[in-house]
Amino acid sequence: MKSRTVSELLSQDITFPEVDIKGWVRTFRANRFIALNDGSTLNNIQCVVDFENFDEALLKRVTTGAAIHIKGELVESQGKGQKVEIQVKDLAVLGDSDPDSYPIQPKKHSFEFLRENAHLRTRTNTFSAIMRLRSSLSFAIHKYFNENGFYYMHTPIITGSDAEGAGEMFKVSNLDSKNPPLNKEGNIDYSKDFFGKETNLTVSGQLEAETYAMSLGKVYTFGPTFRAENSNTSRHLAEFWMIEPEVAFMDLAGNMDLAEDFMKSVIKHILDNNREDLEFLDKRLQDEDKTKPQAERNEMTLIEKLNFVTNNNFKRVSYTEAIDILRNCKPNKKKKFKYLINEWGTDLQSEHERFLVEKHFKCPVILFDYPANIKAFYMRLNDDGKTVRAMDILFPGIGEIVGGAQREERLDVLKQRMAAIDIPEEDLWWYLDLRKYGTAVHSGFGLGFERLVMFATGMGNIRDVIPFPRTPQNAEF
Ligand code: 4AD
Ligand code: MG
Repeated sequence: MKSRTVSELLSQDITFPEVDIKGWVRTFRANRFIALNDGSTLNNIQCVVDFENFDEALLKRVTTGAAIHIKGELVESQGKGQKVEIQVKDLAVLGDSDPDSYPIQPKKHSFEFLRENAHLRTRTNTFSAIMRLRSSLSFAIHKYFNENGFYYMHTPIITGSDAEGAGEMFKVSNLDSKNPPLNKEGNIDYSKDFFGKETNLTVSGQLEAETYAMSLGKVYTFGPTFRAENSNTSRHLAEFWMIEPEVAFMDLAGNMDLAEDFMKSVIKHILDNNREDLEFLDKRLQDEDKTKPQAERNEMTLIEKLNFVTNNNFKRVSYTEAIDILRNCKPNKKKKFKYLINEWGTDLQSEHERFLVEKHFKCPVILFDYPANIKAFYMRLNDDGKTVRAMDILFPGIGEIVGGAQREERLDVLKQRMAAIDIPEEDLWWYLDLRKYGTAVHSGFGLGFERLVMFATGMGNIRDVIPFPRTPQNAEF
């Protein structure tokens, strides 16, 4: 007899004389009803035990969290709440769970408590739903690129070029930290290190992805990236996953079209395939909203928000237009922003981004043509000489979710921009080669995967959408 999943059994319209299933006990009620979950679905299957026919000592071991093996008959349910249930014929406890010490009790736990028990938190409805959605979104991402002619490229995690400038880096070294080799100047001599040079964990796969775009045409990376910024916010991780497509012969307008189509497609995928989990998280968010003052509540439910994004165009707004709006908006005039917007050229903070998306435009926004000096050196300089072909996508409740650009393809301009911020040409000789041999317009962007999962699940803290979050002072598990 083949073992089945709870999901398979619950979707049956017919009954089976013999079923065989393994899972973990969520609850055991009245010495009769076991709610069994195996991760295949949010729902538990009810397993009915005639306690008269079972050893009392065995039933005592059916506790919340225990792993059990059940054989029985799948029958139409007598009770309300489910179509089918299992009439248990045979019960074995595979792994006991001490009810006094098991942390995940059948009650509401705080997210803080569950973070401390991240190894067990996927045994709750909320976290199992989040992580099934995370998995489904990953699949949708690969599916989208695969169906659109992109090649999946694995960019290196250890990098020898620290020129991307996206953020602080984590050093990779196997030198003896107590007694490192020193050079004549008394500094650490990295030529004696494992790679013979200073190396770090990558902050982005973009520069390497550009090399493949300039030969394979359309590529994307989807891997872990690392930033050692000490930003302890609900939207930053030290280790996060990024999706970075890079496309030859594509300009900024094409980049925006791609990003918008891609985001809509992956969100539509979960709307079509993960309804149960989304409905559960939708309800969770509505319940959470009820505990908040009216002004802080969401205007749309989670599913309404997801539908809204898939059905409406993203608003495309230049940085210059955005600054005009921000300069003249109420919170700026009434000095409600922490950082006031006074002049063209200032970088936007998350409070400004969220004002634009949530209060002003009330839809996803693509901001483009940013001032050159607040963006990376590799972004293509516009003819005005002061803005670059950058784009950021801002989402409601999240702020920046995507950052990208048309890349500077002109060798002389790129060299000037590198020189202006003291990046030695030797460090990026291979990157410059792309501009020497067959250069062409090309563009790409980076989507922060966890920020997408936050949006898709309605979760407010990025620590709750990655299995084991890495943040300042925290690398447990
Ligand atoms: O805007 P960023 O820094 O862009 C780049 O790294 C480019 N090289 C991408 C490219 O063009 N290929 O990062 C891209 C996205 C951000 O918009 C954000 O969603 C996410 O990555 N991100 C983070 N997510 C979680 N924690 C952090 N510390 C993040 N930093 C950036
Ligand atoms: Mg950015």
